[in-house]
Amino acid sequence: IDLKNYNSLAVAATAEYFVSVENTSELFAAVKYAKQHQLAITVIGGGSNIVLAESLSGLVIQLNSQGVVVSEQGDEAVITVQAGENWHNFVMYCVQQGYYGLENLALIPGRVGAAAIQNIGAYGVELSDVLLSLKGLDIDSGEWRELSKAQCQLAYRDSIFKGSLQDKFIITELCLKLSKSFHANIGYQALQQFFQQQNIDQPSAQQVADAVIAIRSSKLPLPEQLPNAGSFFKNPVITHSQCQELLKQHPQLVYYPLDTQHVKLAAGWLIEQLGWKGKSLHGVAMHQQQALVLINQGGSGKDIINYAQQVKDSVYQHFQVTLEIEPRIYC
Ligand code: EPU
Repeated sequence: IDLKNYNSLAVAATAEYFVSVENTSELFAAVKYAKQHQLAITVIGGGSNIVLAESLSGLVIQLNSQGVVVSEQGDEAVITVQAGENWHNFVMYCVQQGYYGLENLALIPGRVGAAAIQNIGAYGVELSDVLLSLKGLDIDSGEWRELSKAQCQLAYRDSIFKGSLQDKFIITELCLKLSKSFHANIGYQALQQFFQQQNIDQPSAQQVADAVIAIRSSKLPLPEQLPNAGSFFKNPVITHSQCQELLKQHPQLVYYPLDTQHVKLAAGWLIEQLGWKGKSLHGVAMHQQQALVLINQGGSGKDIINYAQQVKDSVYQHFQVTLEIEPRIYC
């Protein structure tokens, strides 16, 4: 099967075997089949955070399970949502139902299950702010397991599913705690500015979601128009003293203090300084409007990785800062 329509970078790729599963029993059967036939397993959701190789050996499983169950407990709503649900639709459903906390995460591409793998975050909110626990299938033992939030080891664009549980655990549902009373989280500069310009003091949840949608749409290209996987690199975290050194040579450096020891740099700024914005090689470029977003127009997975490596090398040479690729690489 051709996977070009199953990944947002639109890399032409084929799967040796492919199955689309709708629920946990179909998933269990697919995993059992792969184990019996000694096929490697690759699980994909919305395909919006992966770089595929030309051909994937083994079985590719697309998880499509749907369903949302809400249990209201006083001022809180405990929500169980299946991994195959579209993330943005789920966010909008919650806003409409009056379950608050996800507004800032509107319009993030992909599906619910993947949200936990990279601890999706935007405009001052991360999945870790609302996650209670999750369930999934332990591939080796064939057993269903529940992991608490702490066990998921969520950090900035990171979790145990990118570490020791990579390729060992298939997330099938998330359990989130949302609030039935709304507290706008609009400390993030871009949001603050947006509401100041509109003269809105106390935005509703729908207004916050709409603002996030407007801001994202103004900088982030739609994958259907310009194939991409969102931010291609993580924003690097360095120490205050490294930052002071960099500032001597680069007074315009964009950085955000994280804690007493660390600052986060805007990778987009570093990349833009070195002239990568809009620079195209073999159909691959960093986006004209947002230097952290890699655009693919006809390149292969290898072309994308080669391009990314050149960007990394040049950032390291000029700033002595190591960029880390954010999406999962399969090539
Ligand atoms: N910048 C530039 N040139 C650019 C792009 C950015 O100089 O071409 C500088 C600007 O100073 C800008 C700053 O970088 O103010 C930050 O840019 P932006 O607000 O667009 O955010 P980002 O750091 O590029 C991060 C997340 C996004 C998330 C936004 C908003 C990462 C890797 N990316 O991007 O997440 O939507 O903040 O919270 O942390 C994603 O992970 O795929 C993603 C899109």
